[in-house]
Order: sequence, then structure tokens, then C-alpha cells
Amino acid sequence: MALDTRAIYITALKNTHALEMQALQIMERQIERLERYPEMADALRRHVEETHGQRQRLEEALSSLSESPSTIKEGILGFVGNMMALGHTPAQDEILKNTYANHAFENFEIAAYTSLLTIADAAGQGAHNTGFQQSLREEQAMAQRVNELIKPTTLRYIELTTAGEKADR
Ligand SMILES: [Fe+2]
Repeated sequence: MALDTRAIYITALKNTHALEMQALQIMERQIERLERYPEMADALRRHVEETHGQRQRLEEALSSLSESPSTIKEGILGFVGNMMALGHTPAQDEILKNTYANHAFENFEIAAYTSLLTIADAAGQGAHNTGFQQSLREEQAMAQRVNELIKPTTLRYIELTTAGEKADR
């Protein structure tokens, strides 16, 4: 069955919305657990605020087309979801796994918004693209922030671990 570009656009909006809902869960869980890595916790806290705005932009675009977010939450993340699950398994190096997963997740979102913007243009549905470009810039900034945190986070993990202190999260 052939789908028209409007239907493709609506699917992309729903998928991106489900992705943001998953982002909120993943980040809030980490914020609750983080104790020894305040820079990562701060970055996540700021990005949770931004993500609420991103979610709202998607909801506005959906409601302007008389659509509502999908309630089906499975299957969006696939491979990245498996990586996120890794970070949820208690491990001595939980912080490292979550750092890798956060890096992957933000880059996944960059791809999702770049694709969404392309689909919106192709569908002649550019009315919300200014907002989605803002969301894309926020994802790029967060991806950059996580990237910058890889090294200091790893060094702190080493320092805490070798001192016999709590280092996992
Ligand atoms: Fe994000």
C-alpha cells in the first residue's frame, strides 16, 4: 500500500514524539540515580527542560493535523534501546555505559530531526519547521556537551574507582 507524503509526515511526527517520551524517561532515571557526577546530572537536567519544549512542538504539529501522539511506545529505538538497557543493568561502570548511551541517543535524535525536517519539506508541511530546527539545534548542543563530558567523566570514574570510592553512578 502506498502512503502519501502527509501520512509519512504524520508517522514521523508520532515516532519523534515517542522518541522524546523515551528520552525523558531515560534522562529522569539517570538524574535520580546520579550521585558522583554532577556535570552529567546538570547537563541532563537542562536537557530535560528542553525536551519538554520539544515534545510540545511535536504535539502542536500533530494537533494542527487533527492527530494525536501514538500510545504505542515500542519499537522506536531498536538498537539504541538495547544500548540504553545496558545502562540500566546495575554495574560498577554504570556511568560509562550511560555516557556512551547518551552520546548515541543524542545522535539518534539528530538523525530523527534531520529526517523529520526533510519529510516535512517533501510533504509541503513546513509550518512547524522553525520549531523543529530549534529542537535539532538543542539536540546538537546536547550531543556536543555529552561528547565533551566523555573524558572528564572517565577520568573521574578512574579516580574514584582507584581510591576505593563509590564510582558507579
Ligand atoms: Fe535530546
